[in-house]
Amino acid sequence: MAISLRLLFSFFSIVASVSGLTPAQWRQQSIYQVLTDRYARANGDQSPCSNLADYCGGTWKGVTANLDYIQQMGFTAIWISPVVKNPIIASNDLPPDGNSYHGYWAQDAYSLNPKFGTTADLKELSSELHSRGMYLMVDVVPNHMGSVSSQTAVDYSLLNPFNKQSYFHPPCGPIDYHNDTSIKQCWLGSNNVALPDLKTENSTVASMWGDWISSLVANYSIDGLRIDTAQQINTGFWNDFQNSAGGIHTLGEVFVTDAKTMCPYQNYLHGLLNYVSFDYIRKAFQSTSGSIQNLVDNVNTMKGTCHDVTLLGSFIENHDNSRFPSIVQNKDIVLIRTAITFAMLQDGIPIIYQGQEQEYTGSDTPANRAPLWTSNYNKTANLYLHIQNVNKLRTWAIHQDATWLTYNAYPIYNDTQTVVMRKGYDGKQVVGVYSNSGSSGATRTITVSSAKSGFTAGQKITEGLRCQALTADSKGNLGVVISGGSPSVLYPTAGLAGSGICGL
Ligand SMILES: *[C@@H]1O[C@H](CO)[C@@H](O)[C@H](O)[C@H]1NC(C)=O
Ligand SMILES: *[C@@H]1O[C@H](CO)[C@@H](O)[C@H](O)[C@H]1NC(C)=O
Ligand SMILES: *[C@@H]1O[C@H](CO)[C@@H](O)[C@H](O)[C@H]1NC(C)=O
Ligand SMILES: *[C@@H]1O[C@H](CO)[C@@H](O)[C@H](O)[C@H]1NC(C)=O
Ligand SMILES: *[C@@H]1O[C@H](CO)[C@@H](O)[C@H](O)[C@H]1NC(C)=O
Repeated sequence: MAISLRLLFSFFSIVASVSGLTPAQWRQQSIYQVLTDRYARANGDQSPCSNLADYCGGTWKGVTANLDYIQQMGFTAIWISPVVKNPIIASNDLPPDGNSYHGYWAQDAYSLNPKFGTTADLKELSSELHSRGMYLMVDVVPNHMGSVSSQTAVDYSLLNPFNKQSYFHPPCGPIDYHNDTSIKQCWLGSNNVALPDLKTENSTVASMWGDWISSLVANYSIDGLRIDTAQQINTGFWNDFQNSAGGIHTLGEVFVTDAKTMCPYQNYLHGLLNYVSFDYIRKAFQSTSGSIQNLVDNVNTMKGTCHDVTLLGSFIENHDNSRFPSIVQNKDIVLIRTAITFAMLQDGIPIIYQGQEQEYTGSDTPANRAPLWTSNYNKTANLYLHIQNVNKLRTWAIHQDATWLTYNAYPIYNDTQTVVMRKGYDGKQVVGVYSNSGSSGATRTITVSSAKSGFTAGQKITEGLRCQALTADSKGNLGVVISGGSPSVLYPTAGLAGSGICGL
């Protein structure tokens, strides 16, 4: 098992001395989101963290030492927390905001966060990833800096390189999300921790960020960027910033759930975190009365609204939101598996947030950021194995036909509790059957029509999650039994020869 998995996942191990992946090269990746402070301690200490609002002790060395866990689940890349130096607050003096363990309060963009390790440690993580044929995405925050003070008491001299008040917008706020100027210029943060908002529309500020990102990417051989609070930055900023980063892929955070507001940002950024699908997938599968119709409508709308949905990041959990199981009816594992499968096989780059594979359930921040080490990195956990399977199927589909990645998935059947999605050309198509009927749902049979699925008369089809052998009828139609609400992932059996999937 371990050997065949390694072989399968190594099809994309273009062992790179070159750093940096283009947007097109990121399409085929599968990303595991690491919260650096919460993934692994360097000394292997797995005792619980005494205060989730404070630093818990995770480091880059800890991540480097525990990459097998991620790679064996089928991921080809990690996204790590912001790496730069933040103000570190004494543990006995934490404000309600907690400490800077997440990394989003930059103080010195030219120093690393000493809690996470040294320059050598971060370089080692990067080179260890590359030697495994994996890639590094780093979270960056050009919108603001951080100051442990009120908005009016910021000591600008502590900030580097933006060490003068004139680099920043005057404080205003709270942000009015109906007013674009307010979104772009007013400050995030609180009365205890101010997040001074940079004048990113100023050419001096923009070129200072340009110098910084090109240096950061070069120093640590970074392959891609996750960009925090991208909606809060003037759209004119991105062209030069992305060019300074060498054209590597970017996933910008535009935390809005309607396509008409989110998609236009992709006219400026290579990619976005797909918050529209975050919302429609969660709403569709969180309960037996979730809205499949809303999902279907949004899938169809987004294709015509976003520049390229296949370059977006597809996820249902991250560090800023309640864990999906915390909102799922009865924490039903079948609904959770269904949502994960849908998110990983729709258009875009799958992203799984650490702890998702261990069925973590935290709701509010910081409960949604519990350290991974208390799970004991269990590689036989139900969802660990499930995610590994789905990564395997996706990797194989791409290996069989790289254009699978740019074929836009679309619903070929839907009713109030079920959606069937197709992605891929005839003979290489993945057909997913997803229901929100849940583990106690009645057994039903859905007929997937040949005209929509592209399956042919008598064609042998493998259901890849449970390894069922199916055969299309004499017209090419295929009956798929939904039992206990389980999702099905269908692929032509002939195309699986040599994959090791389901013993083929
Ligand atoms: C940009 O900011 C710099 C530094 O604060 C300032 O000297 C310059 O006048 C600003 N430029 C514009 C066009 O506002
Ligand atoms: C929008 O926000 C800006 C910045 O706070 C403010 O100056 C402006 O008056 C606001 N416009 C409206 C229409 O509220
Ligand atoms: C990159 O490394 C050089 C040489 O050590 C250093 O001067 C520079 O500040 C580093 N850049 C960043 C963004 O850390
Ligand atoms: C890992 O998870 C599986 C499935 O839930 C469970 O049976 C097993 O006991 C766990 N192993 C450890 C070491 O926690
Ligand atoms: C499936 O979705 C389409 C597009 O939104 C809708 O028109 C149709 O009524 C749905 N079918 C069923 C059976 O709900």
